[in-house]
Amino acid sequence: MSAARFDPAGPLRGTLRPPPDKSVSHRAALIAAMGEGETTIEGYLDSADTRSTLRAVEAVGATVSGAEGDRVAPSIRIEGVGLRGASDAAVDVGNAGTLLRLLPGWLAGQETGRWTLDGDASIRRRPVDRIAAPLRSMGAQLRCREDRLPPLEVEGAPLQGVSYELPVASAQVKSCLLFAGLLAEGETRVVEPLPSRDHTERMLAAAGAEVERSNGAVAVRTAQRLEPGEIAVPADFSSAAFFLVAALLIPGSDVSLSGVGLNPTRTGLLPILARMGGEVEVEPEGERGGEPAGRLRVRAAELRGTEVGGAEVPLAIDELPLVALAACFAVGETTIRDAAELRRKESDRIAVVAEVLNGLGGRVEPTADGMRIEGGGLRGGAVASHGDHRVAMLAAIAGLASSQGAEVEGMEAAAVSYPGFEADLAALLRA
Ligand code: S3P
Repeated sequence: MSAARFDPAGPLRGTLRPPPDKSVSHRAALIAAMGEGETTIEGYLDSADTRSTLRAVEAVGATVSGAEGDRVAPSIRIEGVGLRGASDAAVDVGNAGTLLRLLPGWLAGQETGRWTLDGDASIRRRPVDRIAAPLRSMGAQLRCREDRLPPLEVEGAPLQGVSYELPVASAQVKSCLLFAGLLAEGETRVVEPLPSRDHTERMLAAAGAEVERSNGAVAVRTAQRLEPGEIAVPADFSSAAFFLVAALLIPGSDVSLSGVGLNPTRTGLLPILARMGGEVEVEPEGERGGEPAGRLRVRAAELRGTEVGGAEVPLAIDELPLVALAACFAVGETTIRDAAELRRKESDRIAVVAEVLNGLGGRVEPTADGMRIEGGGLRGGAVASHGDHRVAMLAAIAGLASSQGAEVEGMEAAAVSYPGFEADLAALLRA
């Protein structure tokens, strides 16, 4: 494990294009693999997680060009195996929870075949019963450890469409069931308690699937073939978010982020920051790959505490740790509620974010479904990423904004979604 130091520094200035979107990249590779013929993916994310997805689609029979060894080219091509053509494999999902939850939906509906999905120590703690239960109700054959954890074994079986009400908003579970629905008889309908990211719906419709969206529900019907053709990936709002918060916290900062995906099911952080006094200017730049994209400009600001909960939570789920960091520098108290899902991410992000921010001198009280944070700034200190990419990057930004700096053990975890994070941060500090 490698440690890195982030001393008080700044301001952050200049323009940057964050790396391609991780959620969209995973879906692009999977849908290209399900497709007929060759799909070009423009701007596929080169990160540990999305390389796991390329290896997974190769394992089930797709051919990937442009990703040789450990380097993924800016534009890659995937020759699909077709919706019903996945071959048997043991799939190593690495650290990628999205791959773990999405891929089984497709595999479960194959006419025959057997697959095992397993991954690293963090993956072995990520629940899969949330996909196993609804998939079984469709007729899928699945086995997992203690009936809820990986390794997950999938056997191809005939599936029946169902209507399934998600107990918690989850784009991963929704996407898994939509994939299964393409192979199931009749209609498969997923009802969401609150809207979650809709990249799968957009991409499947663009590839020719019958996707019907109505208030709070999405339905697909049996599909014969998918033809994605070309998929373009916008820059990742969740990666941009680290610089948005860094620029707000570090006096004198003025940062622009270009080409960023602005799908409204992903940008819940923006209204939260605006309530805290951190206005982000949004300049739309049209669409990229069926996803709205644009430029974000942010300048340092004085922040105040706020309350976050309800429908805002799924729209900002991966950015809530950054809300907690911003809250450490805000005047007054911030409360995050309805976010128990944070405990089931790459780490328990309620416990770990509280530990990291408190380790740097913050006043964060973890609760069952969120956090209560008192403003007052951060002193600095030594903290650990717990192998969680978003925690590593959070701690780095916290160190820059603190009065004495942070030593971050396990900084290499950032490579799961953003291998160039430290270099991009250094570029904004030099500009
Ligand atoms: C993701 C959905 C979210 C998110 C994760 C990526 C996706 O998880 O936290 O980082 O790509 O679908 P849930 O769907 O489980 O909430």
